[in-house]
Amino acid sequence: MLKTICYTSKYTEDISTFNLEMLFHKTRLNNNNFNIKGVLVAKNNRFFQILEGPETILDALYFSIKKDTRHHEINEVLNTYISEYSFENFGTGYNTIQRIESLFGLQSYLSSPAINNINNASLFLSTTENFFK
Ligand SMILES: Cc1cc2nc3c(=O)[nH]c(=O)nc-3n(C[C@H](O)[C@H](O)[C@H](O)COP(=O)(O)O)c2cc1C
Repeated sequence: MLKTICYTSKYTEDISTFNLEMLFHKTRLNNNNFNIKGVLVAKNNRFFQILEGPETILDALYFSIKKDTRHHEINEVLNTYISEYSFENFGTGYNTIQRIESLFGLQSYLSSPAINNINNASLFLSTTENFFK
């Protein structure tokens, strides 16, 4: 089964631009290798991440992400099954979503029936809106 997870978190401390770029680079490489799609954005000392992929792979990845000491206060807003991917390859943006494909992906994700039919759709939408404000 395909699923998606979305969360926000805070940087543990000031991460240098260099270290953020390293994190994004590795995330892009790993996720594209394992057919994990979505987006990772860093803004105002916070991360916003959407992950989409096969359940077993995604759950294992999320387990290791949650243990990562570079961030904390992980606030999970979505963890649900989906019928198809909204995002193409893994795009990561620093400060803003730089890649236009990520923006299209986000739009299609926000309007997909799987996301809009869940109980906490409004919490998810307001969290997303607040993050990108
Ligand atoms: C905010 C945040 C998001 C991350 N997202 C991913 C991700 O999508 N894919 C990934 O492979 N690693 C991601 N990582 C890194 C993982 O936590 C972990 O370092 C990486 O999977 C390598 O794990 P390993 O050293 O156990 O192999 C993320 C880390 C942070 C802090």
